[in-house]
Amino acid sequence: MASSSKPPPPLHSPPRIPSNLVGYDIPWVEKFRPTKVADVVGNTDAVSRLQIIARDGNMPNLILSGPPGTGKTTSILALAHQLLGANCKEAVLELNASDDRGIDVVRNKIKMFAQKKVTLPAGNHKIVILDEADSMTSGAQQALRRTMEIYSNTTRFALACNISSKIIEPIQSRCALVRFSRLSDQEILHRLMIVVDAEKVAYAPDGLEAIIFTADGDMRQALNNLQATHSGFHFVSQENVFKVCDQPHPLHVKTMVQNVLEGKFDDACSGLKQLYDLGYSPTDVITTLYRIIKNYSMEEYLKLEFLKEVGFAHMRICEGVGSLLQLSGLLAKLSLVRETAKAMM
Ligand SMILES: Nc1ncnc2c1ncn2[C@@H]1O[C@H](COP(=O)(O)OP(=O)(O)OP(=O)(O)O)[C@@H](O)[C@H]1O
Ligand SMILES: [Mg+2]
Repeated sequence: MASSSKPPPPLHSPPRIPSNLVGYDIPWVEKFRPTKVADVVGNTDAVSRLQIIARDGNMPNLILSGPPGTGKTTSILALAHQLLGANCKEAVLELNASDDRGIDVVRNKIKMFAQKKVTLPAGNHKIVILDEADSMTSGAQQALRRTMEIYSNTTRFALACNISSKIIEPIQSRCALVRFSRLSDQEILHRLMIVVDAEKVAYAPDGLEAIIFTADGDMRQALNNLQATHSGFHFVSQENVFKVCDQPHPLHVKTMVQNVLEGKFDDACSGLKQLYDLGYSPTDVITTLYRIIKNYSMEEYLKLEFLKEVGFAHMRICEGVGSLLQLSGLLAKLSLVRETAKAMM
């Protein structure tokens, strides 16, 4: 019989998690995704603007723009749920970069959704969510312009993107721009502590510090790194985090900077060679170097000069010159800057 050959239903199927993941650890980024705008951490100005919209209704067309993992998709989804409640299923059209969003989709799918009749309480509108909108072609964006105006009585648009300048100006002018920025270390730590308590994660304080360092203001990365370290080692310590995240160890890079500052150029170079031999790419090294120098306690003049040189080297690496020679040249420049500064004093 057809029904008896079906696999038994999963014992528990958490919301929005595909059935093939049941029995495995649910990704914590999903498990702990805030469902209310008020629960989104950080970016207080942006979040309070959205909270006012959630409270008063009448959502304007919105563009949420900012770096990855800061809560843009989360905020839009939460806002749509708060505004529309049970009508969400019918009254929200969500399209992201994994959907085809060429000009035909705008002409057909989005337009048809905008024309569709859905009975909603007074003051509520249907919502079209265009996530990762910066990957839409400009042709598709152009096609949106008039649709956004014609159906503004019944349908509102919420766009999320990383780089707002990739949204064409006419669309920007039709939307209220809400900017998100990277989350602060305290904000990430606060959220991590909630997850650590809920999941009973064993940790050392320097482990959480390492997670915050590697995440660099990206909450998604922080939660993913926490989960990866926890499931790999069952203990979140600095050492384990750097094993999982596979970034150059900040202490190693810090020693390199210290050697440069103490005039030990050869030691600094051999530190760099070790990192290079471990397989880290020049981009990994220079990104960590930048963050270490930014937070290193040294004279301001030196720090600014160091950062300037790191910036130039980063540019050359991005242009394709990512060799050990390039990074050694950077160390030589930093040493020279330090010598000049010393001579002036
Ligand atoms: N501000 C935040 N407060 C609480 N959790 C957050 C926040 N930002 C991100 N997260 C966590 O990270 C996950 C990913 O966040 P989200 O999808 O909102 O990022 P995004 O800003 O849309 O990033 P992208 O630009 O890559 O699409 C969420 O599921 C949530 O668990
Ligand atoms: Mg997103």
